[in-house]
Formats: sequence, C-alpha cells, structure tokens
Amino acid sequence: MITIQALRNTPTATIFIGSHPAIIQSILDFDFLGGKISPTVKGIIGSRKKFERYFFGKKEILLPVFPTVGHIPHALASEITYFFNTTSGRRVLQSSLTSIAALPHLVGGAIFAEDVPEQHALALIDEMAKKDLFLIGPASVGLLIPKTIKLGAIGGVDNRQLIDSKVFTAGDVAVFSSSGGMTNELMRIVAQSGHHLSFALSFGGDRFPILSPREAFLAAENDAQTKRIVYFGELGGVDEYELIQLLEEKKITKPIICYIGGVVAELFETPPQFGHAKAMAKSDLETARAKRQALSRAGVQVGESFSDFVQAIKNVPVLNKIEDRDYTILMNDMRDRKHALITTSLSYDQEGEVKILGQDLLEFTSSRSFAGIVSSMFLGKPTISQELEEFVDTVLRLLVDHGPYVSGAVNTIVTARAGRDLVSALSAGLLTIGPRFGGAINQAASNWIKGVESGATAHDFVEEFAQRKEYISGIGHRKYRSDFPDPRVKTLFKSLNTLSQKRFSTFAQSVEAITVAKKGNLILNVDGVIAAALLDILSEKEGISDEGLKKLAETEFFNGLFVLSRSVGLISHFIDQKRLDEGLLRLDEDMVSHIE
Ligand code: ACO
Ligand code: LMR
Repeated sequence: MITIQALRNTPTATIFIGSHPAIIQSILDFDFLGGKISPTVKGIIGSRKKFERYFFGKKEILLPVFPTVGHIPHALASEITYFFNTTSGRRVLQSSLTSIAALPHLVGGAIFAEDVPEQHALALIDEMAKKDLFLIGPASVGLLIPKTIKLGAIGGVDNRQLIDSKVFTAGDVAVFSSSGGMTNELMRIVAQSGHHLSFALSFGGDRFPILSPREAFLAAENDAQTKRIVYFGELGGVDEYELIQLLEEKKITKPIICYIGGVVAELFETPPQFGHAKAMAKSDLETARAKRQALSRAGVQVGESFSDFVQAIKNVPVLNKIEDRDYTILMNDMRDRKHALITTSLSYDQEGEVKILGQDLLEFTSSRSFAGIVSSMFLGKPTISQELEEFVDTVLRLLVDHGPYVSGAVNTIVTARAGRDLVSALSAGLLTIGPRFGGAINQAASNWIKGVESGATAHDFVEEFAQRKEYISGIGHRKYRSDFPDPRVKTLFKSLNTLSQKRFSTFAQSVEAITVAKKGNLILNVDGVIAAALLDILSEKEGISDEGLKKLAETEFFNGLFVLSRSVGLISHFIDQKRLDEGLLRLDEDMVSHIE
C-alpha cells in the first residue's frame, strides 16, 4: 500500500538498478532546483565502471557504481529507501527481488522496463502483498511528489519540462495515468492551468500493474493534501469499474476529472491492440465509450473530447494562488554545464591554492610524517591511525634497495652505463617491477583476502595453486631460505604486535609453513609479509572493510609502496654509476652460454 504523506516524511535515498543517465540527471536537477542540499540518487548497480559523472546544479559529482546490490557498503544499503529499476524486462523480477532482500529500509520502487513477462509481474504482485512496500510498474515513468521525490522519468528528463510542470511547488491535484507520456502531459496541463501537484503517478501500461490504479486512487483519497484527481484512462481492462465501485462505496469522495482514450477503436471491424499491453477492448465493457458512460454515471467529470478534458481542468478555480520561483538564473547557470576532462578526489586548485585531500598543501604536508603523507594520498583519504603511518614508514625504509644484484637495479645500472639519463635509467628499473620482483604485493594481498574469506585451510590453498601450476605471490625468494631468513621480514612482523586480530598475517604464515616444508626457499617474502600486515592494519586500525581492501588491491595500492621506496635505490644506483662512469656494459662471451 502507498501512503503519500508517509513518503513526504521519509528521507529519499534512491539506488538505480541499471543506469539511465538522462533519468538520473533529471532527478538530480529536480533535487537541486527543488532546493535539496544533496542528491537523492546515491548510487547505481551496474557493471564495468566504478563511477558515473553527473551534475548537482553546476557542480560535477560522481555517483558510485556497484557490480551487485551485495557490493553496496552496509552503511549505504541501510540508508536506501527506494530503487528505480531500469533493467530489461526479463531481468526485472530477479533484480527487484534481490534488491528487496538486500535493502533493509526499502520503502518502495518503480520499474521502467516494458514487456516484463506477465508471470513475473504477477510474482511481484504476490511479493508486494506480503510486504509493506510499494512497487510501481512495469512500464512506468514512476512517481513524483513535489519537493520530496522524483522516482523515474516522470515529469520529463529535461529540466525545462520540470519547470513547465512546476514540480517544485506542492499543490493539491493528483495526476494518474497508465501512460507515462500522458502522465507527463497532464502534469504540464495542470501546471499551466495555475494549479500544482500533490503527487503524480504512472501505473504503467502492462497488463498487470504491480501497484494497481485502485491503490493509487485510494492513496489520493487518503492524502489530505490532495483535493482533486486528474486521470487519463484507456480502453481495455476493468480498472475504471473498480474505481466506480469505490465511488459507490464512498471510499473515494474527492472530485475526479478524467478522459478515457480509445474511442477510435470503434472504427475498426475487429478490436485493435493499441500500444499498451492492456489497451485492447476484449468486451463491450472495456470500450472507451462504455467506460466513459459508467464513470459519468458514477459522478466523475468525464471529458467527451481531450480538449473538453483540458478545459475542465482549466475551469477548476485556483483557490490559493502560489507564486512559483523564477528559475531563469539557475537555468542559465545549468545550461552551460559540461563535464570536466579529468575528475580527481585527490588534489585540486582552489582560488589559486593547491589543496591535497581538501587541505592546503603546506598544512597537509607539514602536519604529517612522510609516511603519513604517502599513506593518506595512496588511500585517497587522511589516515586515522598511528599504526598505519609507522608501518608504512618501516616499509618505505626497508625496501629502498636490495643491492645491485636484483633485476631492477641491474636494468638501471645497464641503462645508466649506456649513457641514458636519470628518468630513462629509473624507468628501466621500474619497468622490471612485476609479478616476480617487487610487484607481487598486490596479488599477494588479493590472495590472502581470498584465502581468509574462503575459510580454506592453508594446505588446500597451496594445493589449489599447485593444481593450477601457479606460483603463490608473496612466497619464495632467490636469496633467502627458512634457515637463512630475510631480516626485513622479521622487522616487519614486529609492527603487528599492537594488533588484536591478525587474520591475514596468521593465514600467510600458515601458508608459509606448508610451502617451506616443500622447499626451503619458499618463505613468506617481503611482498607477502607487507601485503598481509597491511591488510591487518588497514582492517583493524583504519576500519576498512574486506570489500574496501579488495578495492585497494585492485588499485595497486600495495605495489605503490614498493615502487615508491625502490625508486630511492634505483635513483641512487643511477647517480652512483654516473659517479663511477665505467662506460657501456657489455657481457663477455663466457658470461653467455650458447645452447644448441
Ligand atoms: N609458489 C609456489 N611454488 C613456488 C613458488 C611460489 N611462489 N616459487 C617457486 N616455487 C616452486 C616452483 O614451482 C619450483 O618447484 P619445482 O622445483 O617442483 O618445479 C621451485 O619452487 C623452484 O622454482 P623457481 O622458479 O626456480 O624458484 P625461484 O627461487 O627462482 O623463484 C621467485 C623465486 C621468483 C621469487 C618465486 O618464488 C616467485 O615467483 N614467487 C612469487 C612472486 C613473488 O612473491 N615475488 C616477490 C619476491 S620478493 C621481492 O621481489 C621483493
Ligand atoms: C628485493 O627487495 O629486491 C629482494 O627481495 C629481491 C631479491 O631478489 O633480492
């Protein structure tokens, strides 16, 4: 059941199931022009992208995109009160049910798609009967309550249409139709007649609307702000006879002005099927003419022609004239909007001042250690724990260099001796960082998260990699072995003493216990330790969820630390080689074996 006044008192927080940029932007414009201080659309369930760009007024904003409703962070999921489903007809049922199950404070939703299988629509009707939720559609442009919610394309997707329909000012006329186009047209006609909307709703043109016309009429009757109903009906179906019954039972008492389209069908020998699935008169009762006559007998003001219908709306006296705001300036402001070339959440200029994470550069850098600067900038938000800064400081110190033997250093040295400049020699070294050398931290982090999340034993985890003939990132070293440990690893583990939970480090060490039993050099290497320890610290001390940790791994956050720190060593090797100036390095023949 839908209670309009309750919706006026409900915070509007909408998630889109599937994206529809034009509709989303029209809702954001409705929000902004209606005086809301923040967007009511909170995100999109969609694929591939992480964000979509929109405008809130003139300001560009990013709306998060989640692969599934399950990926919506718990705090946000709890905030969501509505969804607008734009998925294709066949996907509507599953996507709606999944969202209903995953959003604990959902109040209602609307379905945009046409051609939803009738069985699916009936299943949703059954589901709604069991829940205190409303679901409008299928094939609906949605619901609009001035200053409260625009759920869908209703009222139009161009802010000029919204202004013409005066949807930003609350009034006392409710507008209904199964047709989205007619709902929008009637909203405009009501506004141009000097009236304002209490709310507007399009049931949708499919045969089985989930929220029935009957429910909509009762909602208008029970809405104290609504004084009158304007309704555009069509031939086909028996909704109007249900309305007549409500009128006869005095369950509907408010005046109704209506028009029933489809009289033209009488010109056909056999009843034609019009656009909407339900728009076909299967009996005399269902013809437009029969409906008009029955409604008129029940006391409804029925327009004999569409122009009579419009005139009847215009004839309603405007009892309390409401001055609408002049939107000209706001519209001019919004007209020249164009998306920026680059979006950033990291740093930007504000009145000539460089800001990093919202703080003035000098203040941002002077109020933190270098490790604190690195951690905050890599995370994309100020760190909150001393433990993270201290651990990152230790990592940055320990990884600066590991001698001229390692592949990255060798490439820098070779390039330096080939007479190349600093950046070229540094790049040669950096380009060596990858899955085997220095760039395994990210994959190790993903593996430890997967291992812990799956609840797999270390043995099964190792076996899975062996089966796939894949190396475990973070395991193995060319120099160190279980009887000749890497001193850096021991130092890094000390940083974990302050943690109460060590899910990832414990798991990584249990994997090492299996692998070193196989071969002594299959130790937990620095990449593997840094990944595990950072996951534990970020989880416990920065409050980052496992989903958030996965996203960090996707952004190569973990590898960033090795790249930054080892750049010190590679630059130093370049400078050292320039200082030594031994000239071009060329291998002697006996340094290369030729294999037949
Ligand atoms: N997982 C599972 N098995 C492994 C791993 C691993 N990570 N590394 C080596 N092995 C096995 C190999 O399958 C091979 O087994 P086999 O003898 O039965 O065929 C045996 O150990 C020797 O393999 P090699 O490739 O010769 O081992 P090597 O000592 O050369 O490898 C290396 C060292 C490159 C670090 C390797 O362990 C590896 O690629 N590890 C994963 C990537 C990684 O963590 N790199 C970071 C290293 S630390 C750093 O760069 C700062
Ligand atoms: C390093 O930090 O570069 C090393 O762990 C890799 C190596 O082979 O020594």
